[in-house]
Amino acid sequence: LTTIELRRGEQAVRIGILTAGGDAAGCNAAIRATALMALQDGHEVLGVLDGFSGLLEEGALRPLAPPDFEGALKSGGTMLGSVRTSELAQDHGIEHFAEGITANRLDALVTIGGNGTLHVADVLSAMGLPIVGIPKTVDFDVAVTDYCIGFDTAVSVIVDSLERMETTAASHHRVLVCEVMGRDTGWLAVMGGLAGDADMVLIPESPTSLEAIMARLEARLARGARSSVVVVAEGVTVDGVLDPSVPDAYDRSGHVELSRREIGEHLADAIAQASGLETRSTALGYIQRGGRPIASDRLWATRLGAAAYRAISQGRFASCTAVIDGAVELIAMHEVVATTRSVPLELLELFDALS
Ligand code: F6P
Repeated sequence: LTTIELRRGEQAVRIGILTAGGDAAGCNAAIRATALMALQDGHEVLGVLDGFSGLLEEGALRPLAPPDFEGALKSGGTMLGSVRTSELAQDHGIEHFAEGITANRLDALVTIGGNGTLHVADVLSAMGLPIVGIPKTVDFDVAVTDYCIGFDTAVSVIVDSLERMETTAASHHRVLVCEVMGRDTGWLAVMGGLAGDADMVLIPESPTSLEAIMARLEARLARGARSSVVVVAEGVTVDGVLDPSVPDAYDRSGHVELSRREIGEHLADAIAQASGLETRSTALGYIQRGGRPIASDRLWATRLGAAAYRAISQGRFASCTAVIDGAVELIAMHEVVATTRSVPLELLELFDALS
């Protein structure tokens, strides 16, 4: 690691900040904390617009000043805009991002993003560029850290939605299926389902079948439960529900667009057909990702943003901020991107034991 040791007023440097990948509530709190700390120490802070693409375009680096952060702590989305990193890496190549960092004379770059973004940050770090990452994803699938910006707010939206679905399901004696995000992991589904008192949770880490789901619904009916709320993660595999002859849709970077599978809708139809029960489905989609951050996202995002600036001031690059055992830590970037975080099956078993 290079050690620049930026001391107050001694050596002003140019610090870039970008957000990439899906937006999440709390991005602005992190940007604000990094930027205000750096500005107070006399450094220049530049917002890189629209993720890594801002490094490649003329005029896409915006100098940030304290007035830019009025209300930022509380606001949703990302004030810097975001573009999926993998799309850009595919179109331009990561070496162009490296050239962009050098051409824009950035002494440090803070990359706020999920696994895709941090992976690119890791490659850039290996090329010797001065990068510090901040984990941000509603999917909560970044390894090592116990906290990712946006997850808590998304869970709270899911919990609120499940409570609303429960009353309408009960009124009409229906099975309501609620589809949530999460890509290949079921964190949003299982944590939302646990806190939101759902009746069933289906996650990618535990593939299941229509028969198994029907058996559980019948058991509920047998004990007098006339309505059910089922949370289904977008990436789950349920044997006998999706038509295997229907091809997946892919986004520009070659990732399957999981929401287009409409697993929630198909599952609701399949349950109705198999049982004669009345079913409905709701996909929460971008409602769970957007909007104002709840208090925990404001607090942790602020602490991670401040930690990113501390890392820069100590020259501790090729690193990612993280929360571990309740404390803010700095972890080697390659360690963070080496794996992804899946839901441990004990958590699903806990849900099943209580539902
Ligand atoms: O940001 C992660 C995520 O929300 C996933 O849960 C979901 O599969 C995906 O993004 C949706 O991506 P897009 O915003 O490109 O539709």
